[in-house]
Amino acid sequence: SWTMERFIEIEVEKIRAQVGDKKVLCALSGGVDSSVVAALIHRAIGDQLTCIFVDHGLLRKGEVESVVDTFSNRFNMNFVKVDARKRFLDKLKGVTDPEQKRKTIGNEFIYVFDEESAKLKGIDFLAQGTIYADIIESGTATSETIKSHHNVGGLPEDMEFELIEPLKALFKDEVRAVGAALGLPSEIVHRQPFPGPGLGVRVLGEITEAKLDIVREADWILRDEIAKAGLDREIWQYFAVLPDIRSVGVRDGKRSYDYAVGIRAVHSVDGMTADWARVPWDVLEKISSRITAEVDHVNRVVYDITAKPPGTIEWE
Ligand code: XMP
Repeated sequence: SWTMERFIEIEVEKIRAQVGDKKVLCALSGGVDSSVVAALIHRAIGDQLTCIFVDHGLLRKGEVESVVDTFSNRFNMNFVKVDARKRFLDKLKGVTDPEQKRKTIGNEFIYVFDEESAKLKGIDFLAQGTIYADIIESGTATSETIKSHHNVGGLPEDMEFELIEPLKALFKDEVRAVGAALGLPSEIVHRQPFPGPGLGVRVLGEITEAKLDIVREADWILRDEIAKAGLDREIWQYFAVLPDIRSVGVRDGKRSYDYAVGIRAVHSVDGMTADWARVPWDVLEKISSRITAEVDHVNRVVYDITAKPPGTIEWE
């Protein structure tokens, strides 16, 4: 739209004036805000921007590929992808407490980002996807008090960069509109809220590669069926979780003892309160039959019918 084009023009000029011929670093998380900030700064200064994308192995199926394809292939940015999957898994070994998981993931992210950015020389600026809501919320009581919301992308305070935060005055829907105007693909622009610690808080209890695979595949099927039913823009957030529960089932006339997968789909305005989505039964039926048929080691699917409060949106 005209306003978004105008916003982009003005910000591009500001960024050019601020940066001059110096270099900027950006941490891409795969989320909407960091993606839009990267695209905007790239529009302004092209190769003076370098993006670091830490693959911690906790993103959903297809997301790493989508980020690489968008920023490295299509936008042709200076793009560093760090494969830190093993590192994160090693650090998370034996960690079962949700808060401890968040801390472990948040800290490891900072270590990896620190190491990678130290390899790049002569960077003066750090771009961050801070939006208006982040500024408002940091001053008030949020669910921060309930869970420590580690946003992967939260960076160490002692870094010696000057900050660039061009989205600071925008609401989420405006950020999405800017992203679309900059040519970001719909799966990034319309990405649903996703916790910084990613699938790490959707595998309940200890995280293993095998469990991540199960939750990733189940989540992929869920997203596919929600999209096919035309509900993907209606529902605020929908995802699969893997509780640490196995139950008895029967397959091909034989007893099975396998995992149960939980499905969560909620309506919300700001994530502070939520109600479970009345997903049509035939859609739920399809999701359940596909997950049990297509995902190894799953013989049961349950649907979460808890509002927030008393539940939270995530299970951890
Ligand atoms: P809860 O589960 O507290 O979640 O009802 C509210 C919203 O926040 C997201 N969430 C997180 N986001 N880091 C984040 O960046 C986190 O640690 C985290 N935990 C929950 C959740 O997905 C929902 O949108």
